[in-house]
Amino acid sequence: MSRHYDVDAVRKEFPAVERMVYLDAGFQTPLARPVKAAIEQFLREGFETAGPKSVWLDRVEQTRAKVARFLGVTADEIAFTKNTSESMNIAANALPLRDGDNVLMIHGDHPNNAYAFLNLQRRGVEVRFIPMTEVVNAESFRPLIDERTRAISMSHVTFHAGHRFDIASVGALCAETKLYFVVDVMQAIGVVPIDARAVGASFVGSGSHKGLLVPQGLGLLYWDKSLNELEPAYLAAASLADIPGDLIARPDRMAPSPTAGRFELGNFNLPAVHALGAALDMIEQIGVENIQSHCFDLGDHLIARLDELGVSLVGPRDRKHRAPHIYVIGLPASDWLGHFEDNGVRVSPERDGIRVSLGMFNTADDIDRLIDVISKRGQGRPSVAA
Ligand SMILES: Cc1ncc(COP(=O)(O)O)c(C=O)c1O
Repeated sequence: MSRHYDVDAVRKEFPAVERMVYLDAGFQTPLARPVKAAIEQFLREGFETAGPKSVWLDRVEQTRAKVARFLGVTADEIAFTKNTSESMNIAANALPLRDGDNVLMIHGDHPNNAYAFLNLQRRGVEVRFIPMTEVVNAESFRPLIDERTRAISMSHVTFHAGHRFDIASVGALCAETKLYFVVDVMQAIGVVPIDARAVGASFVGSGSHKGLLVPQGLGLLYWDKSLNELEPAYLAAASLADIPGDLIARPDRMAPSPTAGRFELGNFNLPAVHALGAALDMIEQIGVENIQSHCFDLGDHLIARLDELGVSLVGPRDRKHRAPHIYVIGLPASDWLGHFEDNGVRVSPERDGIRVSLGMFNTADDIDRLIDVISKRGQGRPSVAA
């Protein structure tokens, strides 16, 4: 049941979630029928005709337009990449940073974001970390800003405890203090509405294998096209404003594309891009706000049931600060993961407990089955912080 959409109908599109209690959407999505159909269409076309490449590339542009609409931006501001890590590295290396400049990040944020910037230490760039707390907003970063601070990079939603940080206030701070703002939305996208322009991001990076419902190997990068000074560290023909018609490279005609295509390299992961088009249609049909509201409701139910059991929640409890769909429960993974596996419940081990992550297909029944599996064994077992 959902107050927001027909979750039973949605659930039928994800056969895997009928075979187990799937509470691991933050790890990877189960495949939905329309997504599988898009990949199968690509395979069929390649198999039978060696591929109508122009049709395939038209689909890439249609998907780009859908991604842009989804993020509140224009299609010429969207590049396809391989994954979040590649998007964050492209962003980090496009920023005009010099020896002695500094970038602010959150300690304990996702390593695929952190390493992209830590790697700039080789160029003399300093990375300064603020502590991770339940509430991170503009005021958390402000004290560390000095005359050599050039950028802030952070996750919108944390993978390890489900914080949902106030990126709008951090974006406003970056506008006020003239910093670049880079946001990793990998855990947020597809569940939490994102308006990249309203947030004031310079770059937004993500992969697609969680809330965007497609298999691994496809990433996204939003680039604010008014920041024309941000140029790609890598170059291929498609990155150029003026691709030579005879395909003979010319050292004197290397201006980057005026679009986010400047950050794209070579051929695309076509089946995944086509699959993303189908996934975005599904998400838009339901409405990302509805998915968010549904997950919040399930989260409220989970928290209430954990309270009854006396099992703690590791991350934020308040809707204002928590992600709708990521909850870490205070049961040590080393002791509990096998028990969940044995009982057909898919969850992830995390730093401070067991991560339950929700998708558009989950129901209150899934939560109740999880709780039954905990209580079946629960009495007398250690919990992390109850
Ligand atoms: C916040 C965040 N960033 C990035 C990633 C993954 O990076 P990539 O898409 O490069 O595999 C994850 C999880 O897999 C994540 O939770």
